[in-house]
Amino acid sequence: MEYTFRIKRYDPDVDVKPHFEEYPIDLEPTDRVLDGLNEIKWQQDGTLTYRRSCAHGVCGSDAMRINGRNYLACKTLMKEFGKKITIEPLIGFTVIKDLVVDMDQFFAGYKAVKPYLIASEAPTSEERRQTPEQLDRYEEATKCILCASCTTACPISWTNESFLGPAAIVNAARFIYDSRDEGTLDRLRIMNTQSGVWRCRTVFNCTEACPRDIKVTNIIEDVKRTLLLEQV
Ligand code: FES
Repeated sequence: MEYTFRIKRYDPDVDVKPHFEEYPIDLEPTDRVLDGLNEIKWQQDGTLTYRRSCAHGVCGSDAMRINGRNYLACKTLMKEFGKKITIEPLIGFTVIKDLVVDMDQFFAGYKAVKPYLIASEAPTSEERRQTPEQLDRYEEATKCILCASCTTACPISWTNESFLGPAAIVNAARFIYDSRDEGTLDRLRIMNTQSGVWRCRTVFNCTEACPRDIKVTNIIEDVKRTLLLEQV
C-alpha cells in the first residue's frame, strides 16, 4: 500500500529553520512506523536522522510525534493512521537534527529524584525480600522506559523548565513506595518543592501518551496524597 511520510527535517549546520519533506513509500498496514523510517533512510535518503535501538518497545529511544501525538515508532502500526502521516520530533526539547532531540534536561530531572535504591545495610548474598503486596505498591512505576513521551506531552513541561516532569515523578514514586528503600523522606521533599508534583494540573496528557500504559497521572496524584498525609 502506498503511504506518504511527511517528516519535519532540520539540520542546524545547513537549514535556517525546520521544514517538511515528503517521502512516498510502499508498506503493509501491519508494518510499523519505524519500518517506514528505516526504509526511507536505507533506500531514499541516508541523511534522515532519528534514534532507535531495540525496535521492540524496550529502550525508549524512538519516541516521536506522529500526527500530533507522542508514540514509539517501533510500537505503532501504519494501520493506525491514514495514507499520509506527519512525523515531528518531540516538542519542548532543542532539536539536534531532524527527529533527534537534546534530552539532557529530561535526564537531569530524572537524576534529581535519586532513581536508585538507598539502603544503609550493606548488600549480602541474600535478596532483600518483599511480600507480593509490597511489590504491588510500586510495580507499575517500574514499567517506565524513559522515552519522555509523557513529559513532552505535558503542557506544564512546555512552559516551565524547572518542572521535573511526569517521568521523573514516576521514577521517584518507584522508590518512594519501595519498602526496602530508606530515601523516601528525601524524595518526598524533592516532590514538595516548586519543581515537584504541585506543578501538575492533572491534564492526563501524560497518561494518554505513555506507550507502556502506566497510569502516570494516578501515580502523581498518589504522591500528592502522600505529601499531604505525611506533612513533609
Ligand atoms: S527502538 Fe527501542 S523502544 Fe523503540
